[in-house]
Amino acid sequence: MKNTVVVGAQFGDEGKAKITDLLACNADFIIRYQGGCNAGHTVVADNKKYKFHLVPSGILYENKTCFIGAGVVIYPESFKSEIDELIKTGLTKERFEKSLKISPLANITMPYHIDLDGAGEDNLGKNKIGTTKKGIGPTYTDKYARVGLRVEDLFNEEALLSKLDVILPLKNKTLEKVYGLKPYPKEEILTKLKEYKELFAPYVCFDWQDILREAKKNKTILFEGAQGVLLDIDYGTYPYVTSSNPIAGGAGVGAGVGPLAIQEAIGVFKAYITRVGEGPFITELTDDIGDKIQTIGAEFGVTTGRKRRCGWFDGVIAKYSCLVGGISSVALTKLDVFDTFEEIKLCTAYKNKKTGEITELYPTNVFEHYDYEPVYKTFKGWKTDISKIKKYEDLPENAKVYLKFLEEYLETKISIISVGPDREQTIFV
Ligand code: GDP
Ligand code: IMO
Ligand code: MG
Repeated sequence: MKNTVVVGAQFGDEGKAKITDLLACNADFIIRYQGGCNAGHTVVADNKKYKFHLVPSGILYENKTCFIGAGVVIYPESFKSEIDELIKTGLTKERFEKSLKISPLANITMPYHIDLDGAGEDNLGKNKIGTTKKGIGPTYTDKYARVGLRVEDLFNEEALLSKLDVILPLKNKTLEKVYGLKPYPKEEILTKLKEYKELFAPYVCFDWQDILREAKKNKTILFEGAQGVLLDIDYGTYPYVTSSNPIAGGAGVGAGVGPLAIQEAIGVFKAYITRVGEGPFITELTDDIGDKIQTIGAEFGVTTGRKRRCGWFDGVIAKYSCLVGGISSVALTKLDVFDTFEEIKLCTAYKNKKTGEITELYPTNVFEHYDYEPVYKTFKGWKTDISKIKKYEDLPENAKVYLKFLEEYLETKISIISVGPDREQTIFV
């Protein structure tokens, strides 16, 4: 396998974890490159459901190195409960201690970041983003303002104390004076930081430069993205986005490799679109069809349990996503959700409701999205259970017509079709 990045190509929850898990069996080194515990990734294997937030989905295989890269932000409390839950699901402590490594460069989400995320949302009122309230925005804000704490700081007490002397009064002032919230006593934060050091000690990888050098020379690397292109801080539906770069380009930065180290970018698309949180959604279905997709697709957020908003596949977004997401091939998931549908729609263009103008170009100013309505092409449903099909040839003719159109429309090869949550329910084209 070539060094490959798995990119969410819509608004997140496309089934990236399932695809990462499948590809991980042919990789040596799996590296998560951005985001934090806002991500909720599900893998179904061996009749078990594994839920990941920070841990790379490659952990289910023995003898792989799973790395949480410098571009990721880590909320220690969430990391701890994730490991505990995964151990309850059947993974062993030894597996984590052997396979899981954390970059010392990763920024830490502190308790005040969680408070600031909630307060920031309250402050926005009806303009709120609908964040996961996992402190993501405030952690990346501090990182870029150069007042973040990194994992490596925990292991240098002198440096940590000197940083904290500057950072904590600043954060406390914001909590108290801007938002009227409780400040954190220094002793409380110091106790937390000691706990974090103990928690990370078995995983933090101070020899990451040697490991990365070896991986680049002799190993196959799989880069695992979180969220999706339309949630990208630069290219997504700003400001209704997350605070990192899920696009393939983000993998180079977050993992510490150059663009030449990545030969393939698999964009993961659902056969429809879902979105959690606020923001415009041109193909959103607020009718029975939307409910039907939501129910059959079991569209609930893994991290927050929120119902996901559902809509038809948006080709305009998908073309844009292939362009800026750097996508070289497509993994299409959840095609089975349409098994009982009479017809399936796919948005091929937007119509401006005011001017009547038709466009295939994605409008980057999201406030203009309210001016557009989708132009649909309608396909006949296949009315057959496709969830056990293993070969492309065996798919019903109507499904092939839909897939062929999509591939031509996107000008990008569909390399994987997923017809169910399980590893086995996959068609490699
Ligand atoms: P991620 O965040 O992109 O990894 O996706 P999530 O795990 O949040 O959401 C995808 C959901 O769809 C999970 O519950 C998966 O188990 C499930 N899933 C993935 N692929 C398929 C598929 O092809 N068909 C069906 N029915 N479910 C799928
Ligand atoms: P995975 O990796 C879907 C959304 C939130 C909100 C916006 C900003 O499972 O695909 P944040 O907490 O990041 O500041 O929230 O981004 N969001 C996701 N939506 N899947 C995710 O991750 C998401 N991570 C964040 O709902 O709209
Ligand atoms: Mg998810």
